[in-house]
Amino acid sequence: LGNITLSIIKPDAVQKGYVIPILYKIVHAGFHIIAIKMIKLSKKSATNFYTEHKKKLFFESLVNFMSSGPIISLILEKKNAVKDFRILIGETNPIHAKKGTIRNLYATSLKENAIHGSDSNKNAIKECSFYFSNKEIFFKKICN
Ligand code: CMP
Repeated sequence: LGNITLSIIKPDAVQKGYVIPILYKIVHAGFHIIAIKMIKLSKKSATNFYTEHKKKLFFESLVNFMSSGPIISLILEKKNAVKDFRILIGETNPIHAKKGTIRNLYATSLKENAIHGSDSNKNAIKECSFYFSNKEIFFKKICN
């Protein structure tokens, strides 16, 4: 399945009231929301989710930020979802994000960058199963 990606509306954007404007942009760009939930990560689960960054200098700060408040986790379905979604959200650092992208509009810094999008199909599958069970995912074609 190359047609799904995992997104997170991060604590900064939720706290500032940007959930609806961000969801509007996502849906308007042709993505279908096939799973959605609001949760607060524990430090332990944030550590597990970002395990590939464990060695980075910013790791502790990232874990503290991502567990600082509620987030919205989403699975999005669209042809070329991973690639197209990363275009929609823009560069990781909002300073470099193109005008009109979600990070250009709603992010404040490299850390508080409003939104996450999977970086590969392989990670998309892994990240989707981190947040959602099969019963919580409603594929367009096979709606259980
Ligand atoms: P994302 O790509 O969604 O997942 C990894 C996150 O680490 C990234 O978004 C940023 O929010 C964060 N990040 C990356 N580089 C830095 C950095 N130098 N300092 C703080 N946070 C960072």
